[in-house]
Amino acid sequence: MTNLLVTGGCGFIGANFIHYLLSEPNFSGRIVNMDSLTYAGNLDNLSSLQECSDERYVFVHADICNAEAVKKVFEAYHIDTVCHFAAESHVDRSIVAPDAFIKTNIIGTFTLLEEARRHQGRLKRFHHISTDEVFGSLGHTGHFSEETPYDPSSPYSASKASSDHLVRAYHRTYGLPVSISNCSNNYGPYQFPEKLIPLMILNGLEGKPLPVYGEGANIRDWLYVRDHCRAVWRIMRAGVIGETYNIGGECEMTNIDVVQTLCHILDEMVPPQKNGPRSDLITFVNDRPGHDLRYAIDCTRLKDELHWQPQESFETGIRKTVQWYLDNPQWVQRVQSGTYLKWIEKNYRHRES
Ligand code: NAD
Ligand code: DAU
Repeated sequence: MTNLLVTGGCGFIGANFIHYLLSEPNFSGRIVNMDSLTYAGNLDNLSSLQECSDERYVFVHADICNAEAVKKVFEAYHIDTVCHFAAESHVDRSIVAPDAFIKTNIIGTFTLLEEARRHQGRLKRFHHISTDEVFGSLGHTGHFSEETPYDPSSPYSASKASSDHLVRAYHRTYGLPVSISNCSNNYGPYQFPEKLIPLMILNGLEGKPLPVYGEGANIRDWLYVRDHCRAVWRIMRAGVIGETYNIGGECEMTNIDVVQTLCHILDEMVPPQKNGPRSDLITFVNDRPGHDLRYAIDCTRLKDELHWQPQESFETGIRKTVQWYLDNPQWVQRVQSGTYLKWIEKNYRHRES
């Protein structure tokens, strides 16, 4: 892998992946980061790479749906490997405004696949980043395996399912060298505060309400983002072409337990000045429509075949995450001054019950 195209590298996981890879001794190639800088894309996430030479890191401001721009990038940088993160990623937003999800997640993936097909002779791997949400909801027992049938619930997960099907079809039909990973919920540095964990951290620090959907009984499987990045890199180096790998933290928690844990950690790290404990800020609000009850990943294949293990527990990962938000007030201030959080407040006011 000498010229690796990373799409969506200015987002949460993409930025963590680029930082991780540039610190990995077994990657000596160049990363070309193609990102259209939506509300979720943030150049600040990679500002420390300004000193990097063009031989190691290049940023291209472009939309993956723009076939001409994608073609130029493949040709100008002799792309031989792709790691495709770019997506609209927030379930709530897909419920209110699904259009962009259909465009980026489906048409964008198709556009990349078509260009990759034109360079099939030199293409070593097209790795597609996907989600456990394509499998729909579990009841109180069982786990998602790589064989679980797809049953997506939201416009977001349906668009990701569609992109996964396209990637597999390009392998079966054209022999494109693809791999796919379906991962559970990530948390860690650089996550945009529309998602549960950073939203709770920042609201908790500011003494704002902590909105928990329904009764907080929904269950997610949490994974520290750097462990996800390590898994992706392991798959890209050793994963079988044409295969799918599930990635998960084996860390199931109800939402209310996540929020209570965060409240305790915040109280310990930044004792509240005047008011009582932060758990007093928890506010139960109307549930998300079509809210999947439970996700749980069986990642035996990744562990047994590729010898991956998460390095962080929820306890260690969440403390690192809170510390990162405390250490980066300028990042927080710039993200919060953007228009998107105002859009969320306006669109979700009706949720208060
Ligand atoms: P994110 O929303 O933080 O970042 C998405 C990035 O993609 C942004 O930088 C954005 O500017 C860019 N982008 C969006 N549309 C684009 C377009 N048309 N052209 C070019 N760039 C575009 O997302 P994330 O949480 O980092 O997720 C990254 C990937 O991982 C997604 O494919 C998502 O489905 C998947 N995933 C996320 C999680 C999670 O917990 N966050 C878990 C499993 C899988
Ligand atoms: O499972 C992987 C998926 O995880 C990824 O594919 C998505 O890109 C990513 O956004 C994430 O989806 P979720 O919908 O699970 O994440 P979110 O942080 O939005 O919500 C986590 C849980 O918390 C979910 O059950 C809804 C609930 N929630 C969320 C928010 C934002 C609340 O109770 N209150 C909130 O304010």
